[in-house]
Amino acid sequence: MGYEAIETASVDELRSLQLERMRSSLANAYENISHYTAAFDAAGVTPADLTSLDDLSRFPFLMKDDLRANYPFGMFAVPREELIRVHASSGTTGQPTVVGYTQDDIDMWSTVMARSIYAAGGRKGDLTHVAYGYGLFTGGLGAHYGAEALGCTVIPMGGGQTQKQVQLIDDFKPRIILVTPSYCLNLIDEMESQGLDPRASSLEVGIFGAEPWSDGLREEIEERLHIDAVDIYGLSEVIGPGVAQECVETKDGLTVWEDHFYPEIIDPETGEVLPDGEFGELVFTSLTKQALPVIRYRTRDLTRLLPGTARTMRRIERISGRSDDMLIIRGVNVFPSQVETQVMQVEGLSPHFQITVSTEGNMTAMAIAVEPDPGNTIAADDLAAELTRRVKENIGVSTAVTIAELGAVPRSQGKAQRVVDTR
Ligand code: DLL
Repeated sequence: MGYEAIETASVDELRSLQLERMRSSLANAYENISHYTAAFDAAGVTPADLTSLDDLSRFPFLMKDDLRANYPFGMFAVPREELIRVHASSGTTGQPTVVGYTQDDIDMWSTVMARSIYAAGGRKGDLTHVAYGYGLFTGGLGAHYGAEALGCTVIPMGGGQTQKQVQLIDDFKPRIILVTPSYCLNLIDEMESQGLDPRASSLEVGIFGAEPWSDGLREEIEERLHIDAVDIYGLSEVIGPGVAQECVETKDGLTVWEDHFYPEIIDPETGEVLPDGEFGELVFTSLTKQALPVIRYRTRDLTRLLPGTARTMRRIERISGRSDDMLIIRGVNVFPSQVETQVMQVEGLSPHFQITVSTEGNMTAMAIAVEPDPGNTIAADDLAAELTRRVKENIGVSTAVTIAELGAVPRSQGKAQRVVDTR
């Protein structure tokens, strides 16, 4: 059972709720945001054309560039005075993307986030350490409001100050932590260097997201910290964290909170909608958001839709990466998360790695710098050879591997920077 009855409602009930909500979300966008009026008109559709959920495919996509083009406040369906908060995603290049929320939007977000923490195993009264960054990033405040809504005691730590984080975990004894998986590794290392046994910490559940991570890293974190590690997904444009959450009882991918966010998978080349089970780009339509309805927003995240298990709602498989982060090395598509999977399988290597991409002649070359485990006794050459072999065999590319000094690979304070592109 979930936090709310709708999580386990029948599929029929869910689909009819989605259709009703989709109609009003399309109308909200079309009537109140000039971008959608123009885009729907150009495509020759109006919200009245939606008579079934499948009709959604007739509507145009929303791209990140559309949000940028309307920077900062041009995409809102309500007067600016009705927003009670804005967030912005930094965007590595160009303008940030601004998102805004009415009171109802914040309430909905808090509810889906409370649902997410509940699905991860959190309960009312749990001490909850939030180590996602607070500020314009949606991670900290999103997790914070959700944990409060669930009735948890929130420790609003934010990102950074690693020594202090560890001290507070030791003193306050939280049961739940919300943090990026890469920063969690940093916290575990810090516990060890303070002479604490991470497995003996009070933590029982970790809710990890905001960046791609692998099942190998899940095993490593669960083993070293002796917790259940589950995946949380979200993005600012749709709401922030809490769009989809992995249930702790199944740990089999992330349940999409489909009563608020309608998912589609499309072929990223053609834009064609793919059947459930097929791999492609995730697209979201918000069903209940007031200030910033998104209609068919192209996330660039790659995954596939799977049937519900712990909940009626469909799941997404762990995100393998973003199409923008995909490296093409001599014609082979490579995601940093695939490299992580290989690193995690080599005994003697730590999860701290970074990929450098450069140009050699007119080819793109990839190199991996990775640190050994602190207690490793295997020769560096053997470690490097083993990773090179695995990457070649399982990903299909040749790569140079350097075994770095302990501490040489930059540590994450939030989202890890896995790739340095020198091209
Ligand atoms: O990262 C929201 C968030 C905060 C999610 C805390 C989970 C926890 P943005 O900064 O807008 O928002 O970045 C969104 O991050 O499109 C994905 O590419 C990536 N991402 C988020 N969660 C996951 C995940 C937040 N669980 C972008 N696995 C998304 C893989 C993820 N990638």
